[in-house]
Amino acid sequence: MGKHFLYAWMLWALFPLCLHAGGSCLSVIHLASERNIVRVDSMFNYLLLPVQDTAPEGMLSVVSGSNHAVSPVFRVRLARDRVDYYVPFPLSGYKACGCLSIDVQGVPSSSVCWASLQLSDSFAVAREEMFRPVYHHTPLYGWMNDPNGLFYKDGVWHLYFQHNPYGSTWGNMTWGHSISADLAHWAFQGDVLHPDAWGAVFSGSVVVDEKNTAGFGAGAVVAFYTSALPTPWGDVQAQSMAYSLDDGKTFVKFAHNPVLTSGKRDFRDPKVFWYEPGKHWVMVLAGGQEMDIYSSMNLRDWKHESSFGIMQGAHGGVWECPDLFELPVEGSKEKKWVLVCNINPGGPFGGSATQYFVGSFDGKAFVNESPVGVKWMDYGKDHYAAVTFSHAPDGRTVLLAWMSNWQYQAVLPTLQYRGANTIARDLSLYEADGDYFLRCVPVPEMREARTDTVQVAPFRVDGKRELLGLLKGNDGACEIELVMEKKDASKISVTLCNQRGESTVLCCDIAHAQWTVDRSQSGMTGFSPDFPAVTAAPLADTPQICVRLFMDRSSLEVFCDGGKSVMTNRIFPSEPYDRLVFESLHGAFDVCSLAVHQLK
Ligand code: FRU
Repeated sequence: MGKHFLYAWMLWALFPLCLHAGGSCLSVIHLASERNIVRVDSMFNYLLLPVQDTAPEGMLSVVSGSNHAVSPVFRVRLARDRVDYYVPFPLSGYKACGCLSIDVQGVPSSSVCWASLQLSDSFAVAREEMFRPVYHHTPLYGWMNDPNGLFYKDGVWHLYFQHNPYGSTWGNMTWGHSISADLAHWAFQGDVLHPDAWGAVFSGSVVVDEKNTAGFGAGAVVAFYTSALPTPWGDVQAQSMAYSLDDGKTFVKFAHNPVLTSGKRDFRDPKVFWYEPGKHWVMVLAGGQEMDIYSSMNLRDWKHESSFGIMQGAHGGVWECPDLFELPVEGSKEKKWVLVCNINPGGPFGGSATQYFVGSFDGKAFVNESPVGVKWMDYGKDHYAAVTFSHAPDGRTVLLAWMSNWQYQAVLPTLQYRGANTIARDLSLYEADGDYFLRCVPVPEMREARTDTVQVAPFRVDGKRELLGLLKGNDGACEIELVMEKKDASKISVTLCNQRGESTVLCCDIAHAQWTVDRSQSGMTGFSPDFPAVTAAPLADTPQICVRLFMDRSSLEVFCDGGKSVMTNRIFPSEPYDRLVFESLHGAFDVCSLAVHQLK
């Protein structure tokens, strides 16, 4: 055996367990009882952890310095028999420590992860997965659920989110941070709030404290979140605070956290806002099957004012992620308050959904003024944890939601990332039959995001009309703007499909004043029995049907009747839909206007 071959073989055998670069080294020691020590003596930025989505969680903590200081525990599904993807474990905070020991418990020595650990200065996050939306916010890597701390300041929309930086399943809840100038293109800024001794960082909100009521400084950005700690005796949830003096880029946790505690087990998701008539802050948060309302003069001391929820709306699951805001009623001088209540399970088509109440609020208590019944903000299966941006400009009320459902989020067919948000929507109220309802329209910024438009000349449909290739070239990401004249048709269907026979069907059942979206043959649907579904919403009794459909590789948001009824559904076609098929069942209708706008 030649000398060079032997050296090459030795190097290969050691790689990547021991990477030599400027003296940096990575080695693994296996102890008894599935305990392991990973030794990192490195100036690298990351230790890349190989993950297998379905592996049990291992527990990882960093032991540093001569006092053996231990970091919080991270739960990582380290690969046992195959590597699905990598997650970056940042080492930058430990550079001064020299040699680091990472204690890994609960991972057998036979696992494939050990040979696949890597030290690196960079981490590849190319947006190459075919189901990654183009103009919707997604995490660059890892799991995402609720949007948190949405706020607007100085031309920038801030979106924090429930992030697991160490895997594409739920865990290690941390606030990730993304920003946007136009609500259609987002840039990840890193993670800003990490788990600590009080627990994981659950959902919450952000306010800008212009008047310095909290004493952190005028204009401080103050975040409220739930510290959630599982203990051997049960879960504990309390509200904590953190402030930022650099416009939300970095946060300092308040030294006297938690700021609000309760004996309730489910007590979370604080939404804070300034109540101008009373000149005080209000916090609304979910406490069991109610929304609890607190007030404060200084953001630090909170007083319970009231609770809302008994005998109100749907109670088929836990109440979570509230919001409370005032909206003008279209065409009048009247204003009403809207209380948003996300509920899981118990949605109209199973699992997670968003209900709301319309009424009055005096700074202390919310009164529902609607007749008995449930109002859904969105009739699709993938609209949850919906909340509004604080301090939106021009008196706007802008909302976005997590585009998913707890029924199947953990098994959606993506790997390096899991989770997406809906497009942002402008909210207003309209009156109908003596009651008040929300109108949700795509933010005008979505019109600005159009890059190219194909306009189709009007045509009549009496039977079937196929527009092959109409959607081609959009790479699965476009807006379809459609106006149809009902004429004497009693049922109209619009099918988005590909040549593999996968299709999602929008059906307007004029006779029954209802429209549906059927995704049961939409592409990949078998990953969960709860995924194939037909969702339904009311259809207005008007001569025309106006719809805007936003398709983005793995989602379809349909805004019908000018945003009076909306449906958001994920779809996973194995190749992008390239055609549209119009069909009239019983009678004929006109397509008066059809435009396909490319969105990038
Ligand atoms: C809603 C929710 C919140 C909680 C968060 C945890 O989806 O359950 O109530 O704060 O997710 O990630």
